[in-house]
Amino acid sequence: MGREFRFVHCSDIHLLSLQGTGPHRFLNKRFTGGANLLLKRRKGHDAALFDRIVEHAKRLEVDRLVVTGDVTNLALQSEFELVRRKFDGAGLPITVIPGNHDTYTRGSAKKRRFESFMSQHMEGERLDENFYPFAWTNAHLALVGVSTAIPTRPLSAVGAVGDEQLQRLDSLLAELESRGLQRIVLIHHPVAEGFAKPGHELLDLEAFGQVIARRGAELILHGHEHVLLDYALPGPKAEVPVHGIGSGTSMSVRPGRRASFSHYTVDDDGISREVWLFDGQDFRPVTAAAAE
Ligand SMILES: [Fe+2]
Ligand SMILES: [Fe+2]
Repeated sequence: MGREFRFVHCSDIHLLSLQGTGPHRFLNKRFTGGANLLLKRRKGHDAALFDRIVEHAKRLEVDRLVVTGDVTNLALQSEFELVRRKFDGAGLPITVIPGNHDTYTRGSAKKRRFESFMSQHMEGERLDENFYPFAWTNAHLALVGVSTAIPTRPLSAVGAVGDEQLQRLDSLLAELESRGLQRIVLIHHPVAEGFAKPGHELLDLEAFGQVIARRGAELILHGHEHVLLDYALPGPKAEVPVHGIGSGTSMSVRPGRRASFSHYTVDDDGISREVWLFDGQDFRPVTAAAAE
């Protein structure tokens, strides 16, 4: 038991708050589509489901909650304030990374709004003064946080890790392996071709794949497409499993697009995943196969 570590993975909670956001914000050219997007989101997501995930995580007595980005919609100050309140009041440790919505405007990216609100939930080791990647570690495993969030044109949802961050990721994965730690990489975007819609993709997924092929990892977790995914990338010794999770707050009842989270157990035997799906009333565990 001493070596067992359990955590819940959720993503794309898209918490909405317009408090203190006057209509003038939407006249700004950078907010093209912003008002439409908010109307759509309001119908598509229910913030109360995030509270439900936190309740389940605590009932499951997990060690940590992991959130792979898109915690907001427009990267507004009011949205980050709400997320911060929820995270700080969750009553369990959280590790978070940014998604494309968390740097929706150039202003929010330039001000590093995500990092300034979320830094206490991104504690970990860093190779140098650069913020990403970081590694939260215990005696047996490392959660490696990668950022794909880049300021883009309005409505674009692409991402990139960037050459410099990829170099640091390469070194960090090698170092963590030399310490015998199981490495779980957290990244917002899918990391293989064919999963992201056009205009949604990770621009340098090939270069990311090369780092994984060289250094390996024990698991890669992502969100972004709001669907459950299970695939793999080539690693140096064995394939590296990649799991995508749906939106934690989705109101959709379409197969594969329901709100979901994963419950992971990491021990000497490896890493196992239990998917939980929202059935309209509550989240319930299902086998990964039944969730397809
Ligand atoms: Fe999202
Ligand atoms: Fe996203």
